[in-house]
Amino acid sequence: FFPPGAGGGGGGVNAKDALGNDLAAKEYLASKPAGDRSLAQGLKGDATYLIVKDDKTLESYGLNAVCTHLGCVVPWSAAANKFQCPCHGSQYAPTGAVVRGPAPLPLALAHCDVDDSGMIIFSTWTEDDFRTGGKGWWN
Ligand code: FES
Repeated sequence: FFPPGAGGGGGGVNAKDALGNDLAAKEYLASKPAGDRSLAQGLKGDATYLIVKDDKTLESYGLNAVCTHLGCVVPWSAAANKFQCPCHGSQYAPTGAVVRGPAPLPLALAHCDVDDSGMIIFSTWTEDDFRTGGKGWWN
């Protein structure tokens, strides 16, 4: 774990809501149920899912919502417990792993952390992809 923005390298960005406001973890978590996956603005302005864990803390990764097939934004279906792309039917597990094509690759990862002032920060995921065991395709 590397705190975003600490000592050169990395350089996180604040997770923002649809209005461009920085998201504070405490308020965000108070407004969402366990298991929630909702969109925020992430790295490069990409729509990125924030994940609320069962213990009502934030997951340590966010998921880029851009489908790896042809780039549609993939909605989360809580009822199906999957991300389901409306464009050509790809499906992704709650972790972003592909469970049905044509998507060739899992949803891209970003680190998700809370900084000292309680704000939610995304930063680049440079480590291996824990879903595939290999390098992240986005690096
Ligand atoms: Fe998502 Fe084609 S863009 S399945």
